[in-house]
Amino acid sequence: MPLAIICSGGDAPGMNPAIKKFVDYVYERGETPYFIYNGLEGMIDGEIALAKHKDVAGILHRGGALIRSSRSRRFYEYEYRKKAYENLGKHGITGLVVLGGDGSFRAMERLSKEFPLNFVGVPTTIDNDIYGTDTCIGVDTALNAIRDALDRIRDTASTFSRAFVVEVMGRECGYLAAVSAITSGAEICLIPEADFNWSVAKEHLKREIKDGRSYILSIVSEGTKKTEELARWLEKEIGMETRITVLGHIQRGGTPTVNDRMLAFEFTVRAVDHLLRSSESNRVMVVENGRYGMKEIEEVVQNRYSIDPDLLGMLNRLD
Ligand code: F6P
Repeated sequence: MPLAIICSGGDAPGMNPAIKKFVDYVYERGETPYFIYNGLEGMIDGEIALAKHKDVAGILHRGGALIRSSRSRRFYEYEYRKKAYENLGKHGITGLVVLGGDGSFRAMERLSKEFPLNFVGVPTTIDNDIYGTDTCIGVDTALNAIRDALDRIRDTASTFSRAFVVEVMGRECGYLAAVSAITSGAEICLIPEADFNWSVAKEHLKREIKDGRSYILSIVSEGTKKTEELARWLEKEIGMETRITVLGHIQRGGTPTVNDRMLAFEFTVRAVDHLLRSSESNRVMVVENGRYGMKEIEEVVQNRYSIDPDLLGMLNRLD
């Protein structure tokens, strides 16, 4: 059975281990693997090719995605979705592994409602904002990139007696910011999911500064849009010279961690097994409390992720 893999939306470290496992495992199962290059744009344009072992040799440790990715506006239009489906048909492909986030899963759900197609979504985004799974491919590597940056920033902040405001990615999800703040011992963390009590924080920091605190490390999730505001507040209300660092796309690159490689292997093997075993369409791989499973796409895209209350509890104890 010809099966294809595609990366869609923002890239994330761990896509390459998933791509490699897909090719190796599909051959191991006696089936034929295909690549769809350039995400949904490539599906529309027929950029589909047979995958060979040699294509995936030496990619395991690399960030990014060998087969590249894209965000597609054209895919919103029926005409282009039809074209994409017809391109799959030229290779006899009826089963797809889709590495992406919930926007990509929504797009695939639409396609598979219109045409007979079986796909399994594999949560792949540094944002960790997909409902029903504790984590996604790329999250661990992004967290480690942030940790590395924060360790470096702390060195300079502590030497120069400054406050730093570090903005991290995550769209509307504060997971990266929250975990980074907790594990790097930041004094302040602003995320979209929680209110920040400015007056309590001011009192607290003033007291600490009186007791000898000489620098402040704060993390802001991009979704709050409060990076500048916090920097101004630190200067004006706390009285500390402040610098802003926006980490940006550094968080999306780099060698995938061991955890992300393992997650990529576990998700991909299970996704392929499902495509070969069952004609039930529209599933998304998940991991909950260490157990792998699948959820129906409707459940995943119709619900909104919510941040773990235990994590919020830990965040409230930052000091
Ligand atoms: O979804 C991944 C992500 O990196 C977000 O954290 C960020 O808001 C967005 O993509 C950035 O998008 P782009 O790469 O298009 O600038």
